[in-house]
Amino acid sequence: ARPLTVPDLAAARREGRKLAMLTAYDAGFARACDDGGVDLVLVGDSLGMVVQGQASTLPVTVDDIAYHTRCVARGLSRALLVADLPFQADATPGRALDAATRLLQAGAGMVKLEGAGHKLETIRFLVEREIPVCGHLGLTPQSVLRFGGFRVQGREDAAAAKLREDALAVAAAGAALLVLECVPSALASAITAASPVPTIGIGAGAGCDGQVLVLHDFLGLESGHRRPKFVKDFLEEGGSVAGAVRAYVAAVRDGSFPDEAHSYA
Ligand code: KIV
Ligand code: NA
Repeated sequence: ARPLTVPDLAAARREGRKLAMLTAYDAGFARACDDGGVDLVLVGDSLGMVVQGQASTLPVTVDDIAYHTRCVARGLSRALLVADLPFQADATPGRALDAATRLLQAGAGMVKLEGAGHKLETIRFLVEREIPVCGHLGLTPQSVLRFGGFRVQGREDAAAAKLREDALAVAAAGAALLVLECVPSALASAITAASPVPTIGIGAGAGCDGQVLVLHDFLGLESGHRRPKFVKDFLEEGGSVAGAVRAYVAAVRDGSFPDEAHSYA
């Protein structure tokens, strides 16, 4: 199959095809994702936690993401590679442009950054310079010190309204895709209905245009942290890594994952 492009994301949404995304950090797992039909592979700054064993994503550097992006790029032939801008690599538009340029030169086709507010200017700055951007709202792990932990976002009316407003602003700034993390299902569905760009959920219910999971969670590896409600072990169901990827892609495409047991009401 030909490589997936940024315009294909909007086309998938128009045609009602759900997008399946997984994280990967090396060529071997990237190839397994690609072979199993995953549409988007994310080199997430989650690598700080699942690969490096850190307590948060804050210690991750652009060098770390660039290294894993080069590794993952060698394993892909169809999936679109998204790379995270790590903590403070997007603190100013100029820093973000330098970091994003490095990640695209390492093989990414799109960069992801967390938040709205002052990040809207950065999103516009990157998009005007031909760098495709994915937004990320809700539980933004780089905000862990302010949040005081990893918890569901947008539960109160005011927070829900703010999240919805931020989602529309991120899309208006030029983001071509939007990740919603740990958001009540009804809110994520409402944001998806209002959003001009596809949404990808993680702990955000089945109403999003696609889903993403962290590779280690999806393979049932215990992280030493409490396992979030939305995590499902697809290795148990699939019987092998290849089977797990196929089971995940099929469940995302037919809307059976996430079910209510793996979502927040
Ligand atoms: O870093 C990551 O893996 C992510 C996903 C959880 C969306 O940002
Ligand atoms: Na991330």
